Amino acid sequence: MNCLSPSILAADFTRLGEQVAAIENCGAQYLHFDVMDGLFVPNISFGMPVLRSLRAHTNLMMDVHLMIQDPARYIAQVAACGADIITVHAEACTDLNHAVDLIKERDLLAGVALSPATPLSVLTYILHRIDMVLIMTVNPGQGGQPLIPYTLDKVRDLKKIIDRKGLKTDIEVDGGIHFENLETVLDAGANVIVAGSTIFHGDIEENTSRMLEMMK
Ligand code: DX5
Ligand code: ZN
Repeated sequence: MNCLSPSILAADFTRLGEQVAAIENCGAQYLHFDVMDGLFVPNISFGMPVLRSLRAHTNLMMDVHLMIQDPARYIAQVAACGADIITVHAEACTDLNHAVDLIKERDLLAGVALSPATPLSVLTYILHRIDMVLIMTVNPGQGGQPLIPYTLDKVRDLKKIIDRKGLKTDIEVDGGIHFENLETVLDAGANVIVAGSTIFHGDIEENTSRMLEMMK
């Protein structure tokens, strides 16, 4: 199933509650949270208070993308804030298997993110244990960047591996997705689409409905 995961990084933080409600009313399935620590990526975004506040306000699946160094340190707290999916970067984990254990032992969905230059081979032995692979289609760390074309080759290769192994792993793409490239991204094999600027810059309801329509 295709799912849309609007990234609140591009939202108007003074109107976060109403903007998230608009997305939910339009039928989006997930809500994407980009948590940045100023260490794994240069920027600092937001953390637990924002997750907790929105959990009380929405029934959307909370899709938490941790762009933080050694994310295992924070999995218990993120889970307590009500996350449904927790994604860690393979590059940021001292022990990726342990980080996945910490997510799965809380009965949450486990995602692993790969930055553009990171090869799929880091997932060879763990792919069967994870629920979602997040292929970064831009450099992690900020919204509004153009999609890096070669990352779609990685999506195509990953889709082949998943199918060959008979797995049901979701493929999420994140960064630079807009109306003009959405079809190409879906054709490459992605089924969870993160979009920040495309949803929040302009008419949120119109943008959300248009993306969802294209994803049917
Ligand atoms: C980038 C973040 C993305 C970002 C996407 O580091 O992971 O989720 O918010 O933003 P757009 O859709 O504007 O590229
Ligand atoms: Zn993200």
